[in-house]
Amino acid sequence: MRFEAREIRLKDGRTCVLRPPAPEDAEALIAYMKGTAAETDFLLRYPDEISYTVEGERAFIERALEDPGQAMMTAVVDGAVAGNCSLSGIGDKRRIRHRCSVAIALYRDYWGLGLGSAMLGYLAELARRIGFEQMDLEVVAENERAQALYRKCGFVETGRRWHALKMDDGTYHDEILMVKEV
Ligand SMILES: CC(C)(COP(=O)(O)OP(=O)(O)OC[C@H]1O[C@@H](n2cnc3c(N)ncnc32)[C@H](O)[C@@H]1OP(=O)(O)O)[C@@H](O)C(=O)NCCC(=O)NCCS
Repeated sequence: MRFEAREIRLKDGRTCVLRPPAPEDAEALIAYMKGTAAETDFLLRYPDEISYTVEGERAFIERALEDPGQAMMTAVVDGAVAGNCSLSGIGDKRRIRHRCSVAIALYRDYWGLGLGSAMLGYLAELARRIGFEQMDLEVVAENERAQALYRKCGFVETGRRWHALKMDDGTYHDEILMVKEV
């Protein structure tokens, strides 16, 4: 979906714009996916698993903009991508169409500036606008910063998925399931 750009003030005084991505952001968003995947172990993909082409990413952004049931939000600081988050329906079946799934990641340089809270707050407004009733997410059990952010934004823990992730070194991580009613 398309939505209005919103300006927010970060804790360090800089201004950040929250807006839908434009097709021209495709290259920067691929770099962002690879960069954030390299900076933290708490995302699903290893950097070498991100193999999108600029054309493919452009098409993906265009589809997301035209789809009234999903939202992608890019955070831009001084003209550069700082992070991204997204919201998409779990599925079209009547019994699950009240639920949407949420994902967020920021470059490490932008952690701790209140950006995550601002993005999730705006995303909750968009979820309500679309007509979803709840936002679902999974977070790695050791990811304390993300869980602190989610609790602050009104998410509550509803369960735990055993050994949800297996790392290349053979270790496993559980996921915590969280939900927020919107
Ligand atoms: C998780 C993430 C989105 C958080 O974004 P952020 O902008 O740093 O979050 P905010 O600054 O808005 O808020 C985080 C809150 O948690 C608090 N916090 C940070 N680290 C904490 C910790 N280890 N324990 C408890 N609280 C912590 C902060 O103090 C802050 O609260 P405050 O604003 O009341 O001080 C960001 O760190 C990130 O992109 N991480 C890598 C990707 C990732 O893990 N994504 C989530 C996958 S489920």
